Amino acid sequence: RKPMTLHSLRAMQARSEKIAMLTAYDATYARLADEAGVDAVLVGDSLGMVVQGHTSTLPTTLDEMAYHTRCVARGLQGGAAWLIADLPFASYQQGTAQAMAASAALMQAGAQMVKLEGGGWTPETVRFLVERGVPVCAHLGLTPQSVHALGGYRIQGRDAASATTLRAHARELAEAGAAMMVLELMPSDVASAVQSDNPQMMTIGIGAGPGTAGQVLVLHDMLGLTRGKLPRFVRNFARDEQTGAAVATDVALAAYVAAVKAGQFPDPVAHAYGSAA
Ligand code: KIV
Ligand code: NA
Repeated sequence: RKPMTLHSLRAMQARSEKIAMLTAYDATYARLADEAGVDAVLVGDSLGMVVQGHTSTLPTTLDEMAYHTRCVARGLQGGAAWLIADLPFASYQQGTAQAMAASAALMQAGAQMVKLEGGGWTPETVRFLVERGVPVCAHLGLTPQSVHALGGYRIQGRDAASATTLRAHARELAEAGAAMMVLELMPSDVASAVQSDNPQMMTIGIGAGPGTAGQVLVLHDMLGLTRGKLPRFVRNFARDEQTGAAVATDVALAAYVAAVKAGQFPDPVAHAYGSAA
């Protein structure tokens, strides 16, 4: 495979080929994901939970994100996947200059795009970064860095008023130049509406139904390694759905890519949410 670029990702969207994204935090898994055909690897601040053992993503620092981004970037050397890294909590909220400095740290660690959470106040920051050569992925819906403000890991945009606000925020971010947007934990019709409102932007869903340009899951969740109750949008690709037999990691990663590309994951009912009646 040729190395992904923003241009080749957009070309995938234009020909309706689904974009398969996964998180990775180290070189070995990044390389496995790349070899399995994953189009984009996200060094998510979910590493705070699945790698560092925190109960939220808030404690994860910029230095830690940069360290894991360097690990993943080495794993992707000679590979094809596009590399996105999360700006962690409190690394971009103070203003555009802080956001640029934090983005520089991640880009210098090997990221090709940075992701930041939230709407309303974020378009100014997105425009500032994009004008300075930093591709940006926005993130709306359930934004885990705001978990305490949101009152838990709850579905967003379920009633008409909050769906309208979410769509307005998405439009502002697209106009500010966000090339990509993660849509997390929202009704499928809201995510589909965000995509059709903003055809120039690639939407990547997680718990947002099948209507987005691509899908993302947390690696440890889709490999069945995360303990405790998982949200219904997660599918364990390391177990055969029929027989329950264990599936080797490389095979599980390839099955994820194949299911996303075939439109078989997420299931529109089992892995998705509806709007409030
Ligand atoms: O940190 C993360 O893993 C993420 C994805 C769930 C989108 O932000
Ligand atoms: Na994240």
